[in-house]
Amino acid sequence: MAVIAGDGIGTEVTAQAVRVLEAVGGLQFLHLPWSADHYLATGQTLPPDGYDTLRSCDAVLVGALGDPRVLDNRHARDILLGTRFELDLYVNYRPVRLLDDRLCPLKDRTRDDVNFAVFRENTEGLYAGIGGRFKAGTEDEIAVQEEVNTFKGVDRIIRHAFEFARARGLRKVCMADKSNAMSHGHALWQRVFHRVRTEYPDIEASHLYIDALALLLVQNPGQFEVIVTNNLFGDIVTDIGGALQGGLGMAASGNIHPGRTSMFEPVHGSAPPLAGKNVANPIGAILSAALMLETLGRGDDAQRIERAVEAAVQARDVTRDVGGKLGTKEAGDAILRRLQ
Ligand code: NAD
Ligand code: IPM
Ligand code: MN
Repeated sequence: MAVIAGDGIGTEVTAQAVRVLEAVGGLQFLHLPWSADHYLATGQTLPPDGYDTLRSCDAVLVGALGDPRVLDNRHARDILLGTRFELDLYVNYRPVRLLDDRLCPLKDRTRDDVNFAVFRENTEGLYAGIGGRFKAGTEDEIAVQEEVNTFKGVDRIIRHAFEFARARGLRKVCMADKSNAMSHGHALWQRVFHRVRTEYPDIEASHLYIDALALLLVQNPGQFEVIVTNNLFGDIVTDIGGALQGGLGMAASGNIHPGRTSMFEPVHGSAPPLAGKNVANPIGAILSAALMLETLGRGDDAQRIERAVEAAVQARDVTRDVGGKLGTKEAGDAILRRLQ
């Protein structure tokens, strides 16, 4: 498997995820230096055969990409977004699961209330990079950023959400869009959703406008089992999902093309103010590594990791952001100790 530790706290949390993966065994690591440092030193974000290198691995684990010295975020666009596009990783799976009641920021909510999955479309939408700037830098500047919605792209992510629900014995899928304002692109989401839902009569399919979804995620998250939405909305609501789990440091994700090389990374970024201080929470990265194993067909090992994380969280053997006293490395030790 490939490891792209990346920038800032990405390198610190990835080191802990790799230790956990080494402990469960059976993997070979290809450490790739792609990062802001590498880009600034070499002028190269990733080599010309970079995506092929990733494709030749079983899976890819990423820390985070983003650095204040790279103002246009060019390297992150090539490495992170580029991999999502080039490897066609159309499913961004972001489970939202509270591991301890005390971590929930909502009054009187428990683990029963925060346990759902978000499926974010990951290869189109406003991330397609289509558009341009005319008369840039002048007061007449026009900036256009197109949102791309294709039948194929919308159909496959909505279908994936329903298939996931069915496979897990879940009963509810909620699709969120902004079709009341975005009368072209999101009309397509509506059409596809209504078409696909008829194939899943066993599942209760509902729709919310994305603003109402943001409201209800805070007011009553317990009503959700599976949420499916577009690229940008999914990015935003999964940060809310991070908060519901106790903070962004807890949130895991997979960028998946079923049956092909997929990429796993915590939901959080490089958090420059925390970088190099041994304070970042490694759990999002470690749980992303568990998602990777699950996707590679090693569900038992994934569960071992999840149980170890849960036990460490419940014992408060964690970093300060989630109520513990440990550093990043020591929080990794606490999880490794509990791996059985
Ligand atoms: P961020 O996720 O880095 O940080 C947001 C907040 O969450 C901060 O308050 C930070 O302290 C906290 N936080 C994040 N991860 C944490 C952890 N593991 N432990 C404890 N606290 C944690 O988001 P940002 O500040 O908006 O972005 C910083 C950089 O990261 C930017 O360059 C951005 O583009 C990039 N970014 C990259 C990814 C990625 O690579 N997948 C994701 C998000 C942001
Ligand atoms: C994420 C990040 C990325 C995104 C950024 C770094 C481009 O926020 O993975 O959630 O918006 O997809
Ligand atoms: Mn994000």
